[in-house]
Amino acid sequence: MSGGPLLLTLLLVLMATISNGCTDILVTPGASADGSSMIGYNADSVSLYGVLYHYPRTEGRGGPGELRQVFDWDSGVRFGEIPEVNSTYNVIGNSNEHGLVIGESTFGGVPELAGQKQIDALGAVLDYGSLIYITLQRAKTAVEAIHTINALLDAYGYASSGESFSISDKSGDVWMMELIGRGDTYKKLGAVWVAQKIPDGYVGAHANQARTTTFPRDDPQNCLFAEDVVDVAVHYGLYPSTADPLKFSFSDTYNPVQFTSARMSEARVWSMFSQIAEEGFQQQYLDYALGINITKRMPLFIKPRAKLSLIDVMQLMNSHYEGTKLDPAKDNGAGIFASPYRSRPLVWEYQGKHYHNERTLATPRTGWSFIAQLRPWMPAELSALVWFAADDSSTSPRVPVFGSNWQVAEPYVGKGTQDGVPAPLLKLDMTKAFWVQNMVSNFCYYRWQDAYPVVREKIDNLQRDLLKQVQTLDDQLLKIYKTKGAKEAVDFATQFSVRTANAVHQQWLEFYGELFVRFRDFHIITEKKDEPSCGCDAKEPGLVDAVKKRIIDETGDHYEIPSNGQILNKESLLRSVAVQ
Ligand SMILES: *[C@@H]1O[C@H](CO)[C@@H](O)[C@H](O)[C@H]1NC(C)=O
Ligand SMILES: *[C@@H]1O[C@H](CO)[C@@H](O)[C@H](O)[C@H]1NC(C)=O
Repeated sequence: MSGGPLLLTLLLVLMATISNGCTDILVTPGASADGSSMIGYNADSVSLYGVLYHYPRTEGRGGPGELRQVFDWDSGVRFGEIPEVNSTYNVIGNSNEHGLVIGESTFGGVPELAGQKQIDALGAVLDYGSLIYITLQRAKTAVEAIHTINALLDAYGYASSGESFSISDKSGDVWMMELIGRGDTYKKLGAVWVAQKIPDGYVGAHANQARTTTFPRDDPQNCLFAEDVVDVAVHYGLYPSTADPLKFSFSDTYNPVQFTSARMSEARVWSMFSQIAEEGFQQQYLDYALGINITKRMPLFIKPRAKLSLIDVMQLMNSHYEGTKLDPAKDNGAGIFASPYRSRPLVWEYQGKHYHNERTLATPRTGWSFIAQLRPWMPAELSALVWFAADDSSTSPRVPVFGSNWQVAEPYVGKGTQDGVPAPLLKLDMTKAFWVQNMVSNFCYYRWQDAYPVVREKIDNLQRDLLKQVQTLDDQLLKIYKTKGAKEAVDFATQFSVRTANAVHQQWLEFYGELFVRFRDFHIITEKKDEPSCGCDAKEPGLVDAVKKRIIDETGDHYEIPSNGQILNKESLLRSVAVQ
């Protein structure tokens, strides 16, 4: 794709529609080491504030006429209101007390249907973010969630662009649902969609590109869909009326793959799949991930060569294409500290040509992220265990939260834009996990090569430790549940989550201090007890050869120290600069 003005406009429109990029992984019980299903979700938007949204359970609240206000999760704009229901479930993070979890990524889709086409024409009110939280308040299982989403959208209209949803429940069922609005001239509110159950033993993923192609019509146990999913495409001239409806591909019609979506979106799926699939996958789909061959599509789900633990999934969701051809830490743009990150926008122009940054899976703009485990062996209230981080998935610690938790630790308390509350992004607040986790992340960004390995080790140790604590806790919880009942067990779990999140927050603030002390002023400063001036050793880490070479290639002899007369030998050279 070389890009004339029209193509470029299209490209920029596309980029705008995926400005809220996200990445999801969906792991079935048969593909996980402990038999839980897992949903990993990075919510990537720089205006997102990392807090645990909490909607307490309500009973007998919504009488006739009571309304629920709906604000767009992305923009904070009020879209309207819908009737409230009498009883709602406890929702915390993206999980509920019945063990239901929902994640998403935005794919945008064809302009006829993307971009909130139903708002003005038909008065649609539900954006995809509100849809998630309302569904979590009203549904218990994955299949119920799919029907709830469909019913809500049919009744009140869909006010966002194309979305992929990851849905899992306490039974371990894992579904991937992709939908796009019906547009403004089809004259029916709502969205068309296909939802497929990921077969047990398999792993799915999505990242800002629709992945559903053709799908079965006669297998309701494993595939559900809107009756008019093809009709809408025919109405808008996106699919020939004479073509075989069974050959209809959701993604190829509503969100065709282009260079940018292969390279920036599907490449993230490729990254995760190729780390866990049978050998050969990485090479087989490298052309596709690079955007060289965009017709060579990857399967919707794959069978991993080994079962995945929670820690494995954390690592997948932490990655930046390390060790692959797409690793951005290897070129000049990485700076002198080998960072995988770049200044945005993702697409940039130089002398009439267009270029892009690699869109890594873990990314600075993540507002919050989680990996949820749905444990079929636990009671419903304790089934959803959400490992929640308040910033970049690769540089932030994850704290364990249960779907039935009725209280949130103070550092994680806050409302979202979907509740009509703008994110408080202009005031640093050290009492909030979001800010302290951002401080550690941002510190890391500027000294990546030195600081990231330290942060990585710190997080990995913390997660292993918390995982052990949760294993002990689970035994206690089951005992309490049996002897004293659900309420006592939920109280105990809530207290554990609150205590742990408070402790991690305090630990992270101290960790920021440690990092700062250790990497101050471009040095690496460590303890050295017998050193008389500071009890410390201040190492000068220097430049790696790749960086030296780039500097010399660019500047020639500008920095070269002449080897004639003035400098006698290496020893005197080093002595002469040691004090400078
Ligand atoms: C909700 O509660 C009101 C009264 O509080 C009652 O009239 C109504 O039937 C209830 N609706 C449902 C669906 O239970
Ligand atoms: C792209 O991949 C498809 C499917 O594997 C293959 O048939 C086609 O030959 C490939 N095209 C190129 C240019 O490599």
